[in-house]
Amino acid sequence: PQGAPGPEAAAQVLVASNRGPVSYTLDVDGTLTARRGGGGLVSGLSAIGPEADAVWVCAALGAGDREAARRSGGHLDGGDTGGQSVRMLDIPADTFEAAYHGIANSVLWFTHHMLYQTPLEPVFDQEFDRQWTAYERYNAAFADALAQEAGQGATVLVQDYHLTLVPGMLRERRPDLRIGHFSHTPWAPADYFRLLPDEVAAKVLRGMLGADRTAFLTARWARLFTECCRRVLGATVTEGENGTLSVTSEGRTTRIGVHPLGADGDFLRERAHRDDVAERMAQLREQVGADPDGSPRRTIVRVDRTELSKNIVRGLYAYRRLLAEHPEWRERVVHLAFAYPSRQDLAVYRDYTAEVGRVADAVNEEFGTGGWTPVVLHVKDDFARSLAAYRMADVALVNPIRDGMNLVAKEIPVVSDEGCALVLSREAGAYEELASEALAVNPFDVRETAEALRTALELDAATRTERTRRLAGIATSRPPARWLLDQLEALGS
Ligand code: G6P
Repeated sequence: PQGAPGPEAAAQVLVASNRGPVSYTLDVDGTLTARRGGGGLVSGLSAIGPEADAVWVCAALGAGDREAARRSGGHLDGGDTGGQSVRMLDIPADTFEAAYHGIANSVLWFTHHMLYQTPLEPVFDQEFDRQWTAYERYNAAFADALAQEAGQGATVLVQDYHLTLVPGMLRERRPDLRIGHFSHTPWAPADYFRLLPDEVAAKVLRGMLGADRTAFLTARWARLFTECCRRVLGATVTEGENGTLSVTSEGRTTRIGVHPLGADGDFLRERAHRDDVAERMAQLREQVGADPDGSPRRTIVRVDRTELSKNIVRGLYAYRRLLAEHPEWRERVVHLAFAYPSRQDLAVYRDYTAEVGRVADAVNEEFGTGGWTPVVLHVKDDFARSLAAYRMADVALVNPIRDGMNLVAKEIPVVSDEGCALVLSREAGAYEELASEALAVNPFDVRETAEALRTALELDAATRTERTRRLAGIATSRPPARWLLDQLEALGS
């Protein structure tokens, strides 16, 4: 990277994200065990091939990562990363905590998902100031590393709400680079975004506008972003003939992109038919059991991180209402709720996780019988078991309060064995593409969600199969590789 750039340097691609493609656990005996992550970026990047000379810059997230970063001098390449060259930043723990848990996950995530209980929170005080300073430092650490790693004219793809200031900071350090930003979350409406202190709201927007192009998962989030730029910065928003937006502020124009991420159909279909998935299906069938006529019980499946925005508790309330209002479904259906603990360093997430468990227990106590457990809650992240549930699902419940995209809604139809009816929140990004084939719900309306679950269970087999086929078609039309190449192409133009 350093020294005179070769002719190939312009093809170099750098990715920056808080969570990298690999993480490490540290055993008591000092052994490091690597675990490779999944997701759209990981599979998308593998598709652009080794000639891209890609470098992934990420943060060390825990003790294992820190140790791996220390032992390798921060540059991990080779076996652990699947050939990917990774630069892992060992940011001082207090800075990292304040930036990641404080600003990114407790402020920006809450803002974009509209999760505040506004009479009590947010509170912007000295503690917030301290965290914000840390967030600036953490963003600067990324900008420094990227400036060091990037060859002349390289392309840099900066990811998500953790790194909103990076594009602007990087442009100051390296005006020769092509910089893109991508938001994997929704974007907040301007009235809500302006809960943030004025100077912070402006810094976030200016930071992102430092990119040549900043992109979103849906046209809805893109438009809300431009509205914030107009209201907070007084920026000019222009709409091109083909509907593409751009934002001009302080003499610079930033193009706005929309790239809905699709499911990786080839990977999912292959992975979902391996032996470990078949084993998990047999175990799940045992747990689900048979109805009074001896047929396998029907299943309502959800798979999420235990995340406030995923609305798991209202999903359980809706299921409880279904059983209460439609007793004919008792003994005949099981709700497979997979809710994998996430961000457990934050008290609200721990409380929410506990609440999910309590409500699931309460439903089982109220309706369960000797041979029927109405809710089967699994909390241990197990990809093979998730795929097994995907294949078995009669109904998929995807009811987030607000969600950038929601890939589960796209993945289930792709691997479904016998067709699956999709109950989908109109506040999920995926709704923009899947609306015509899904049963839409207002995520707050438990009555409507309960009715949608009933309609979904009663959908005739032919309609269900046909809709699933169409859902799978839409879901796989922009696989991760296409999604990433589209962004690179658009940045180059
Ligand atoms: C969302 C964000 C990602 C994040 C993921 C998991 O999908 O858009 O950037 O990595 O949640 O959250 P975590 O805090 O565990 O990285």
